[in-house]
Amino acid sequence: MALKAPKGCVDLIGKDARAWERFCAVAADVFTRYGYERIELPTFEQVDLFVRGCGETTDVATKEIFSVLSIGAAAKLREGGQLKADQRLALRPEGTASVVRAVAQHNLIPQGGAPVKLYYAGPMFRCERPQKGRLREFHQVGIECLGAIDATADAEMIIVCMRFFEALGLQTSSMELLINSMGCPECRPAYAQKVAAYMHEHEGELCEECVRRAETNPLRAFDCKNSGCFDVMEGAPRFEDELCEHCRERFAQVKAALRAAGLDYRCDSRLVRGFDYYTGTVFEVQVTEGLGSQSAIGGGGRYDKLMAEVGGNDVCGLGFAVGFERIVLALEAAGVQLAEEIHPQVYVACVDATVRDEAFQLVQDLRDAGIFTLYDQQGRSLKSQFKLADKSGATYCLILGPEELAAGQAKLRHMQTHDERPIALASAPQEILSLI
Ligand code: HAM
Repeated sequence: MALKAPKGCVDLIGKDARAWERFCAVAADVFTRYGYERIELPTFEQVDLFVRGCGETTDVATKEIFSVLSIGAAAKLREGGQLKADQRLALRPEGTASVVRAVAQHNLIPQGGAPVKLYYAGPMFRCERPQKGRLREFHQVGIECLGAIDATADAEMIIVCMRFFEALGLQTSSMELLINSMGCPECRPAYAQKVAAYMHEHEGELCEECVRRAETNPLRAFDCKNSGCFDVMEGAPRFEDELCEHCRERFAQVKAALRAAGLDYRCDSRLVRGFDYYTGTVFEVQVTEGLGSQSAIGGGGRYDKLMAEVGGNDVCGLGFAVGFERIVLALEAAGVQLAEEIHPQVYVACVDATVRDEAFQLVQDLRDAGIFTLYDQQGRSLKSQFKLADKSGATYCLILGPEELAAGQAKLRHMQTHDERPIALASAPQEILSLI
């Protein structure tokens, strides 16, 4: 049986791969302007990093992690042995925990050295049920800023994200910015208890998992996809009403800074995001067209306790990530292409086999001069070569025959206008360069 890519994974070929490159290039351009430097992270890390970092009871940690086992570790498990922590590995489901781990590991924030600003780009892996806009291997770019405490840092994070979307070609009018505050260790436990009490009152209307969540992590119920739970949680106490004085004040400052920057937003008290590491401001950007239920194209927020959680100093942080595949769908719906088709500038055609050696040399000369050149390497007839030149969308066809060659020339044909003229072989690369 012919082998296929695993479920929920796609091959990015040609134009699609160029779209990913363009997405990364736009990200690099925008993020660099705000002082972010590139970090390349491992594709897999210790499972514990994600379980501790993202939260033990999150969907990511309990259902979506792909674990990685070396052959040796798998054999050890089969024999009933136990793996050491550094043998229990997982494909990264996201980049935040890894960046924070790297900053702590390399002590990138020496005394007074904050903030550290890093951006990443690459594949992430989550074992979710694949559907439009939801893959098992997908691509993200993201930025993380460690050590910036001011409320303007929260607003700036959201501004960078919106600027990135705009630079990609998304219209502000096609996006909605949702914001919320997840409180702090002072006010979150009391709020979670209130939500749990509310969930107990409505236990009969909740799915089994949410009944469990009421005990383990009530706020996760806001994320439940079950429509019954959605309706129940609609009436749950709102975090905005339960924030402590400090969090209320900060959230007000963030909102004021967003208004000052001219950004429209909607406060959504149900927005809890999928990870437990968030504290304070969280945000998500959704699009109105092209994505159906997977409408979130990017999101993030503040995570002031994550660094300490993964074993570093108590340094605050914030960031966001944006999904490439969903951006492609959103842009398609808006009629915008991230990458264009590319066509050769010159197709070299041989009249017969006697000129092949010269054609081979000519093609190399054209390419060395920086000209995108194709030619036939299968001994096709001149007619077939013309067909191929046409199909390739080449701007020019350079026709090499024995007679032209004897005169040190070739024929240059413009593929659209069919204009033809002789061209000296010795100066062909320079002349063509001046035409394209
Ligand atoms: P996230 O919301 O899980 O956040 O992912 C960010 C974006 O990645 C989503 O808005 C979506 O565009 C894309 N995405 C997520 N899952 C999938 C999937 N299965 N298939 C296709 N696209 C997907 C994070 O990952 C956090 N690390 C963001 C962050 C950075 N928070 C703070 N810093």
